Amino acid sequence: MPKVAQAWLTALLMLAAAPAVMAESATPMGDPERGAELAPRCTGCHGPEGRSNITRYPSIAGMEPSLFRERMAGLKAGEGGHLLKNMTRGLSEQDIADLAAHFATRE
Ligand code: HEC
Repeated sequence: MPKVAQAWLTALLMLAAAPAVMAESATPMGDPERGAELAPRCTGCHGPEGRSNITRYPSIAGMEPSLFRERMAGLKAGEGGHLLKNMTRGLSEQDIADLAAHFATRE
């Protein structure tokens, strides 16, 4: 292959690959206000403001966002059983980031 064509091909491949790489590594910024709007679907089990006084349901208030996201990913993957898998299935990465941002501000 001529050198110029090869250089072009390399450049094109890099361009094509870049968005995929960025999408995978970038964590969406959490918006606590939007998280607050989504929160009512969680607080039924996790208690008002995410402070649970029922041992079956862990408190999620004040949880560190990265840990929150990690646990949510686990629940999505089925670690907490079917119920929680179904419950978390409809949440996008953005929803989870927003919820994480919201509950992190609770105490
Ligand atoms: C039907 C009741 C129920 C609802 C609704 C619910 N959860 Fe949970 N959640 C649980 C239970 C039970 C666990 C513990 C699961 C386990 O340890 O396997 C849990 C665990 C978690 C954890 C991990 C906590 C930790 O300390 O490890 C997070 C984070 C979480 N839920 C967030 C949410 C969010 C966000 C919502 C709303 C979108 C939500 N939950 C809605 C019952 C619920």
